[in-house]
Amino acid sequence: MGLVSSRAIMCSGLLENYMAAMVLSAAGDAMGFCNSKWEFQRDGEKIHNEVAKLGGVSKLDVANWKVSDDTVMHLATAEALSEAGNDPDLTYLYKLIATNYRDCMDDMCGRSPGGTCMAYAQNLDPDNPSSWIANFSKQGGGCGAAMRSMCIGLRFRHPEQLETLIAVSIESGRMTHHHPTGYLGSLAAALFTSYAVNRKPAHEWGRGLMDILPKAKAYIQKSDSFVEENLKHWSYFENQWSKYLETRGISDGKSPPSFPEMYGVKERDEFYRSLSYSGWGGSSGHDAPMIAYDAFLGSPDWTELALRGFFHGGDSDSTAVMAACWWGAMYGYKGVNASNYKNIEYRNRLEKVARELYHLSLIAEQ
Ligand code: AR6
Ligand code: MG
Repeated sequence: MGLVSSRAIMCSGLLENYMAAMVLSAAGDAMGFCNSKWEFQRDGEKIHNEVAKLGGVSKLDVANWKVSDDTVMHLATAEALSEAGNDPDLTYLYKLIATNYRDCMDDMCGRSPGGTCMAYAQNLDPDNPSSWIANFSKQGGGCGAAMRSMCIGLRFRHPEQLETLIAVSIESGRMTHHHPTGYLGSLAAALFTSYAVNRKPAHEWGRGLMDILPKAKAYIQKSDSFVEENLKHWSYFENQWSKYLETRGISDGKSPPSFPEMYGVKERDEFYRSLSYSGWGGSSGHDAPMIAYDAFLGSPDWTELALRGFFHGGDSDSTAVMAACWWGAMYGYKGVNASNYKNIEYRNRLEKVARELYHLSLIAEQ
């Protein structure tokens, strides 16, 4: 087979990964959310019983399950990235993101948007760049910035685009969440998506994040916006992640992860809660990507990923939206029953923007 045709096959495989990343992310969100019933159910066992009653993960049909605010905002980020095209001027991209975050708030009926997202998105003025960075807020550590940033890793997946990935994930994050725990969650979600689509083995991702945090800190120090406050609150995210990686034995980025012998629904609920800021696992910028990562690391198939990452007593849609995205980015639709995503709301928009991000990522390669 000639070089051209083998490259074409490789690329069409990659296109499917982009599509699956966007579509499955929305499907995971819809399942974790379950029209708000499961997002706010604090007992994971109750959710698991209901999933079993519906016939198990493979029988779940998302046709009548709305996507939550997570996907509405993820689409807002992705469509801005696409519209900005190849323009190297990030100011134009930020204007588009600010516009989309503000406008997507009109599509939040029945989707349970986060308090910080709502409060700050309404202050965004696309024509006033000074409104694009929220004021520093001690309450800005929620997962609202992280849940919408995975597509940044699809757009800027090449290692030489790392500086741009860092800048865009932080700036889009702090349009609403100006707190390190909030916008570093955005960085983690974007970075892990780039790792997934580049097929980096999952046990190496955590180390990768830790190695990149100093670059993120340098970016903040240079940016001249609430630097002192940011540095004062910097360590929480880093310490929580370092503790988690040690617990799984993967701080070195080489060793395989180790899980407790007994790690069922109850044990996971307890562990997820122990990672949390205020008792609701997955609701903050540090633990939403962490729980999604924990599920991804420990799941050999889509069903197990759903059981661990979509259905638990914490903020289920926020962890699902990421875990499912990484699955699609790395494995495409492997092992996923079509009923889980076929009739997902906004499927056309998700596929269209996935295609556009894929093409933009190829141009960067040339
Ligand atoms: N550090 C860690 N966690 C914090 C901090 C902090 N400094 N401040 C607040 N929290 P919220 P969002 C926690 O409600 O981020 C979507 O539906 C706080 O304890 O402002 O705008 C997603 O699915 C709270 O529980 O939301 C999510 O459910 C949590 O951050 C939600 O909206 C969420 O903060 C995320 O959007
Ligand atoms: Mg939500």
